Parts: sequence; C-alpha cells; structure tokens
Amino acid sequence: MSGPVAKSTIAQIEPYKAGKAKAAGFDKPIKISANENALGCSPAASQAYAALAHALHVYPDPQANALRDALAQNYSLEASQLIFGTGSDEIFSMACQAYLNPGDEMVQPQFAFAAWAIAARAAGANVISAPERDYTVDVDAMLAAITSRTRMMFVANPASPTGTFIPFADIRRLHGALPGNVLLVLDGAYAEFAEGRAEFDAGFELARNASNIIVTRTFSKLYGLAALRLGWGYASPVIIQTLNKIRLPFNASSGAQAAAIAALNDKDFSARSLARVDAGRAQLALFLTELGLAPLPAFANFVTVRVPASAPLTAPEIEGALAERGILVRGLQNYSMPDCLRITIGTEAEMQSLEQALRAILRA
Ligand SMILES: Cc1ncc(COP(=O)(O)O)c(C=O)c1O
Repeated sequence: MSGPVAKSTIAQIEPYKAGKAKAAGFDKPIKISANENALGCSPAASQAYAALAHALHVYPDPQANALRDALAQNYSLEASQLIFGTGSDEIFSMACQAYLNPGDEMVQPQFAFAAWAIAARAAGANVISAPERDYTVDVDAMLAAITSRTRMMFVANPASPTGTFIPFADIRRLHGALPGNVLLVLDGAYAEFAEGRAEFDAGFELARNASNIIVTRTFSKLYGLAALRLGWGYASPVIIQTLNKIRLPFNASSGAQAAAIAALNDKDFSARSLARVDAGRAQLALFLTELGLAPLPAFANFVTVRVPASAPLTAPEIEGALAERGILVRGLQNYSMPDCLRITIGTEAEMQSLEQALRAILRA
C-alpha cells in the first residue's frame, strides 16, 4: 500500500534513545542514567508549579517576561536577547531549521549529544564528526572539519556523554577561527557544574560581541526541572529575532516559567545540589578506579567510565548486571563508546548501593 513518503533526510534519522527508566522487578530503581538532579528540585519550584493548578485553562505568557527578566538580572544579560525552548533541545532544532539548508554541513565533536545531529539532519544537513583526543573536544580537528558547506558547529562544555571539559581559551580560539557565516552553538547544559573553575567561562560575553554564537542553557540539570522541559538561549538580536519567527507560540508552559523563577531564586538548593555533585563525583571516580575501571576526567554531574579489556565483564554486561540489581546506568553503545558507561551522581545512599553492587559484580 502506498502512503506518504518521508523526506529522505528524515528517513535516515536514528531516533533519540533515552536512558533506561525501568528495571524488571523494581518499583523504584536507582536511576542514575539521565543526569537528573539527585536531590530533586527546589521545594519553592514545586510550590510555584503547584500554585498554577487552578489556572490550567490559561495560556502561558508567550514572551515569558517574568522569567526573562529574572534570568537577565541573574546573569547580567540583555532580556531582549533571550529565547526560550521546550528544553534546550528545542533551541537546537530552531537553530538548525533557521540556519541549515539541505546539503549544508554541521560540524560536531566525535562524541556528541545525539539531539544535535537529529536537529541538523531534520533540516536536511549532513553531520560531520571531528575526532576527539582522549575523549575531549579537539579544537584543531573541529576547525579542520570545516568546508565551504559548513554552516553550523555544536560544542558542549562540559560535554556529554564524555563529561570532559575544554578551557575557555580553546572555545575562544575555535570561535576566532570560524568563518563568520558559521553559527556556533555553545551548549551549556552542564555549565553550572563548571562555573567557578579558573579556565571556565559560560561564553555570554563572547556571544554578546559576536554575530554568530548562541549560548544555550537548561533548567533540566542543576535546577532539577527536567520534567518541565525548559531551556533558554542567549545570542545577538538578529539571531534571536530569526529564531522567534519559527518558535511556536506558548512553547514554555506557565508551570515551567513559574517553577524556573523559583528555582533560580533558591540559591540554597542550587548550592546543595552542587555540593552533592562535587562530593559524589570525587568519591565515584575514586571507587571506580579502585575497581580497575578507568573514569574519564569529570566536570559535570556524571562520571563516564571506560571498562578496560582486562576487566572481568564488558560495559554492556556491567550495565545489565546493575539493572538486575535495580540500578540503571547509561550504556553508550549508541554514542560509539561501547566500552563506556555514563553514571549520574546520585544521593549518598544511591552511590553506596552502586559501589556495593559493582564490587559484587566485578568480584563474581
Ligand atoms: C549536552 C546536552 N545538551 C542538552 C541537553 C538537553 O537538555 P534539555 O533537557 O534542556 O533539552 C542534554 C540532556 O541530557 C545534554 O546532555
């Protein structure tokens, strides 16, 4: 039977595969597979969300003005140069729709967040992957991948799925060598976890003075609002105006806007979340090393660990054995890192359970 035929560029797309959320036999598995916030979210954010339960018939503010002003003030940014998305994922999509023509090229690092390539391919573009060095973005390789067809480049810092980080001087050098007609998307989904490091910079100043950068951020990670799907971007007025032409009206829900403002204001919750990640990350890396595994340098709210060939089990086997014990970590086969696992920093108790389970699995 004949039917509508999807565009060939769409037909070739591999759908996004989320981390596992279920473990057979466990009502509440330990889910450390999606880089969610181990502490949940700010109670003030939950309250702000719940307070809207009586007003579900009302459309959200299409400009998200209260949130816009709160963010502008918090980060000293021009409110008019912000855009909101249903997660930062939607901002990647809008940017690709707006700036990629069929046949154009998007350059990304070898180990890249999967949603970028989906967005680029949906716009009909080809995705070029630049090799990394030691699981870390290689600026020279990124630059070498540029051709006359390149129109966009994506970099996350810190990166996922690797968790590694490059100094801001490298980002600056990358941008400095980019042709002016290439849009650089600086994905800061994990930026909060690196803020304060000497070599880290969020890139807002660079974006303020450039016509070809968009910095994206999310409320899904540090702020623990992944369910509400809210991300934002900061770019030149021209880029923001362009993206606003295709942004669907009311894409940031009222609940998300209200919860995000409360989350932004709850400095105590953010500080506790960061402290948990800092402490948990160091401990996790330590016991993974003790167990003969090879954690990559970790700068976000997770540790990606390589399982050496000498280990008694492979990465997928460890992932499976942990799932049998009700612990869900993220296997990275579909990120071309089949010998690696990505493990989110959980609560202290969750990390203890993980350690015990890993010791038992690897000893057996
Ligand atoms: C590198 C990176 N960018 C963006 C996102 C998506 O964030 P959001 O929930 O805002 O769509 C993720 C989520 O895992 C991520 O790892």
